[in-house]
Formats: sequence, C-alpha cells, structure tokens
Amino acid sequence: MHRRISAIFQSAPLRWIAPVLLISLALADPGAFAAAPICEDGAALSPTMFAPSSKPAELILEISWLVWAVCGLIFLIMEGLIIWCIFKYRRAKDDHTEAPQIYGSNPIELAWTVVPTLIVFVLFLVTARTIFEIEKTSPPEGSLEITVVGHQWWWEFDYPEYGFVTANELHVPLTRNGKPVPIYLTLESNDVIHSFWVPQLGGKTDVVPNHVNHLWLEPTMTGTYVGQCAEYCGTQHANMLITAVVHPEEEFDEWVALQKTPAVHDESVSVGRDLFQKTACINCHTIRGTVANGSFAPDLTHLMSRSVIGAGVVSNTPDNLMTWVFDPQILKPGCRMPSMKLDEQGVKDIVRYLLTLK
Ligand code: CUA
Repeated sequence: MHRRISAIFQSAPLRWIAPVLLISLALADPGAFAAAPICEDGAALSPTMFAPSSKPAELILEISWLVWAVCGLIFLIMEGLIIWCIFKYRRAKDDHTEAPQIYGSNPIELAWTVVPTLIVFVLFLVTARTIFEIEKTSPPEGSLEITVVGHQWWWEFDYPEYGFVTANELHVPLTRNGKPVPIYLTLESNDVIHSFWVPQLGGKTDVVPNHVNHLWLEPTMTGTYVGQCAEYCGTQHANMLITAVVHPEEEFDEWVALQKTPAVHDESVSVGRDLFQKTACINCHTIRGTVANGSFAPDLTHLMSRSVIGAGVVSNTPDNLMTWVFDPQILKPGCRMPSMKLDEQGVKDIVRYLLTLK
C-alpha cells in the first residue's frame, strides 16, 4: 500500500503539479483581490479592503501591500532557487553515485538566520507603528461618538449625542462644519463575541461581552459600505450584516433630524398599532411615542428609513415584511424572534402600521 502511494507521487504528472500550481499562484492576477465592483462614490457592493474610504483603512492597506511585497519577493526568490536547482542538479540518467554531501558553512548559516530576523523585525516595527496610529484609547478631538452593540444576530447603533437608537445601518457624516470628522465607536456585546468589520472603513475589531473595545473611523468619501460580523456567533452569524452610509454633511443632518422625531402617529392604521401594542412585540421592540419600549430587538421607530430587515437578510419591502411578521423563521431560521401566530388579517394590519414608520 505504502509503496503504491509513494509510486503515485513519483509519477511524472504529479511531480509537475506542485511547481506548476505554485507558479500560477505567483502569477495570479492581482486584480482578483479587488474583484468587488466599485460604484462611482467609492463604495463596493461586497466587502473589500482593497478600496479604502477611510483613514485607518488606508493605513491598513498600506501595510498590507508592504507585507505582500516582502512575502512575494521571498516567495519568488525561494521558488526560483528551487526550480533552478531541480533543473541544474537533476540526476543524470545512468548516474548512480551519491551526490556530494556538504556540512556546515558559517557564512551561509549566519546569513539565513540574520536576514529573516531582520525582515521580521522591520515588519514588526512597521506593524506596531500602524497599530498605534489606528488604536485610539480616547476619542479624537471633535469626534462623533456612537455605541455599537452586537446582538445575536443584529447590530444596535446608539447615538448618545442625539438621543436615539437605530439598528443595522450605521450612518455617519463625511464632514462637520466643513471639516473631516473622526467617528469613535464604542463596541459592546449583549451576548456572545461578535466582530465589527466594514473593511473599507476600518479594521476588524472584536465585540466582547463585559469588555469595551473602541474603533476609530475617519471616512474620506461618501458612499454606502457593506460589512459583516466577522466572528462566528451562532446559527445566523452569516446574516449579521452591516450597512454603513457615509453622508455629505447636510444629508446627515437631515437623517439625524428625522431619527430624532418620535414615530409617526397615523390614525388610519390604528387597528395595526393597537394589535402591535397588545402583543408581545412591545417587550422586545421600541417604537418611540408608543408603549413599546423593549431593548432586546431592533428599535422600529423609523423602520421604513432602513433599506433592509433582519440585519440584511432581505430588503425592506412590504412583501418581505409580511413574511417576516407572519414568521421570521422562514427568512432567518434560528433568529430570536418567534412567530406571533397572528392570522392573515392581523399580519396585514401590523405590516400596514409598520409601513407608516418612516
Ligand atoms: Cu455576530 Cu458573527
């Protein structure tokens, strides 16, 4: 058996596969790394760290290129030497003599100890400098502070400066009084470890229960950036998406003004509102201006100002809301919201009410 396996690996095709694979990897199209389509305003449709739109993300990309370059160079030199040796020193057909055995060479051994040590040391210094630049233990001057709370499986965004809470969509301004504004996030978790990551805006940072982390972003371009929980946190980890919108200043001020107002009170949907207030919905959700003041689930005060529901699992359309209110488990199996077992009319009434929460 053993012999058969080693015979397979000595067969000509397999002897060639490894070097060919390595060479193709080395020559792989670098554009593949930036495969995410980029919109005009700099936003990508899928997360990519190769199109930074924020200062810390730029610093991270710079250091990544340095590491890629150093590692790429080492790879090319080493593979080149290996391939050269394979051809230059391959055994001649009828040669059965043993190759010369060479032991110990102080200059060579010194070189392959000192050079890698120096490379690692340089990379360490550069990385340490970048980490010090990115990690800010206190909010930079004039920053907008936002508290991010990770929940299974959605994000809460708390704007203490303005006194409102929203979910799953992080909205920030590009400037304040015409000047770039640092965004200082305080990261907390309500249950397990999550990880906040919007690659175009900043580095991945863990969101840990009973431990506060901070993250600094400083957007350089308006746009909608996508991100995702980057630490396995349970069944619906993959559907714990983040939409981060960087607005021009006036647009952000309009968004803040809207979010500050209490929920729209529309008499024409009072049936749905009454039903909502009579069911267990209010134990988990908040709708400002009503009796609903729960904090386990997303704040719905301005639900219709958001583009997605279920932390990005589907877009926020009347049809999807109908399915969600009927039974959230259909769209997001395992999520914490149970079906309220409403009849068809009840679901329609509640959705008609939710659709007024602009
Ligand atoms: Cu939250 Cu993964």
